[in-house]
Amino acid sequence: MSRVQGEGPVPLAGESSTQTGETFDLEGYLARSRARVEKGLERTLEDLLPLIDPGQRGAVRQGITTGGKRLRPVLCMAAYEACGGEDQEAIVDLAVALELLHGYSLMHDDLPCMDDAPLRRGVPTPHMVHGEVVTLIGGAALIPAAHLQGWRAAGRLGLPDAEARAILQAIAKAVGGEGMVGGQALDLLGEGRRLTRAELDQLHRRKTGALLEVSLSVGARAALAPAQERKSLEGYGRAIGLAFQIADDVLDATSDEEVLGKAPSDASLGKSTYVALLGVDGARDEANRLVRQAHEALARAELRSPPLEALASYVVERDR
Ligand code: IPE
Ligand code: IPE
Ligand code: MG
Ligand code: MG
Ligand code: MG
Repeated sequence: MSRVQGEGPVPLAGESSTQTGETFDLEGYLARSRARVEKGLERTLEDLLPLIDPGQRGAVRQGITTGGKRLRPVLCMAAYEACGGEDQEAIVDLAVALELLHGYSLMHDDLPCMDDAPLRRGVPTPHMVHGEVVTLIGGAALIPAAHLQGWRAAGRLGLPDAEARAILQAIAKAVGGEGMVGGQALDLLGEGRRLTRAELDQLHRRKTGALLEVSLSVGARAALAPAQERKSLEGYGRAIGLAFQIADDVLDATSDEEVLGKAPSDASLGKSTYVALLGVDGARDEANRLVRQAHEALARAELRSPPLEALASYVVERDR
């Protein structure tokens, strides 16, 4: 049963149209990119798990390896390639750092003191399986691990120290108080309240948009892209970052628990969402407007990247 009535989400088609009207095999691209990310995550866990207390290893492994769309690393790799980056191996190691941070954020997001979620990616959440304290500490261990991973990967990419520092600084900013962590605080404070549009924009941009935006920025920096090109990709990232969370809100309101693999619903938690503010159709229109904005950012920079064009559409057309 859908949580509210409305048209269902548009299913992801195997082929997606690009701006020039050509078709692009997004499904194949996602499968290949995700396989690279999965391998990179396994490599990283082999190094990381022995450094973590045995009690936390199960929760960390689950938080990192149980499914997931891998959108942040895929975007990072796509931006790197769009900017002419050629090191197919080392960029994966850098992209993986972003997924470690995303994984930790979900482990904490689901804790009883936050969204109190028993289900994610179709299975019981790490704290349901391994316990709260273990999940809390295991998640926290991923934050410095991600930064070390990023630093090592920047070395493998042969980046100048200044660029490596800029990458690490940008990531830290995106996930810190100004970004994801601050956004999570606003999200919890917003429960049971009716936020204004401006407050909700802030909340979504920080809790979800910032990490997605920086994924593009990191890819561009890793390829030593000119500042103008990087800024265009950041503009693209800002637009799809907000669109992504709006789509998350829409899916939460319109999709099935079985398809989404997540519970509980935003409505049951009294969350401030775009759907609560604009309704399902209004939220969808807003997400589509942002996708057009992302496409325009690519076009203005004359960045021809069928994967990035298709990924922008995927952000709002996905079914989970
Ligand atoms: C869910 O992110 C949390 C949000 C930031 C909305 P994703 O939808 O990317 O989660 P996975 O990794 O694919 O499960
Ligand atoms: C989660 O947002 C954002 C972060 C984890 C930073 P949500 O709470 O909306 O994500 P889901 O819906 O549980 O995946
Ligand atoms: Mg949440
Ligand atoms: Mg949640
Ligand atoms: Mg959500």
